[in-house]
Amino acid sequence: MPDKRPYIITIDGPGGSGKGSLAVQVARKLNFHLLDSGAIYRLAALNAMQNGIDLKQESKVTASLEKLDIRFEIGDELSIPYLNDVDVSEQIRLESSGEAASVIARYAGVRKHLLGLQQGFFQDPGLVADGRDMGTVVFQQAKFKFFLLASVEIRALRRYKQLIGMGLSANIDRLRSDISARDERDKNRAESPLIPAVDAIIIDSSLLDLEQVVDLVMSHINEVNELVE
Ligand code: C5P
Repeated sequence: MPDKRPYIITIDGPGGSGKGSLAVQVARKLNFHLLDSGAIYRLAALNAMQNGIDLKQESKVTASLEKLDIRFEIGDELSIPYLNDVDVSEQIRLESSGEAASVIARYAGVRKHLLGLQQGFFQDPGLVADGRDMGTVVFQQAKFKFFLLASVEIRALRRYKQLIGMGLSANIDRLRSDISARDERDKNRAESPLIPAVDAIIIDSSLLDLEQVVDLVMSHINEVNELVE
């Protein structure tokens, strides 16, 4: 029986597990489109804050999405996120934006509104989508599902290096506690909690570098598919 599932590769996992960098590399190798769904939640939170909305006010946050004007442009390395025609790449990478995103990501109305928007990223020849619920909710029919893990310690260190590399300030203890708090919020929420899909391949990247994880993912894909390289 031919495999009729769409050419979608989902990569879910907690913040700082390396899924974003992994998704970029895999998309490049396959020449697929890319969806950074976390960026969409970050943009939605930033939009609400720019409209002076208290993120605790679920109905106001949800209503603010009616006028959400976002787009991504292909940059040299990564895609550049725009909110109301303004490049907000730096702003949305701040830890505070991740926190804000995880607050509004609990709201059912927000998730419902962003669902179709995310599904619209699927185009030929295929898509690599990273986030928390790509395999469990948004792209349940994906051909390949991966769930990336890494210890809190390693993730805090990676985030630290990433922020310093971007010329931003960072504090490792603060990052560690922020990451743990965000994990708890993402795992314990009622709507689309962070859990691996039943058919996901779980990879612990704590002791692996990016290249090793990319190789592992590509070997899984190659095993069942003659698509690549
Ligand atoms: O992946 P990233 O750190 O950019 O995600 C920011 C926040 O957005 C996450 O902590 C999570 O609460 C939310 N998110 C989500 N579902 C996704 C992607 C992100 O709830 N698919």
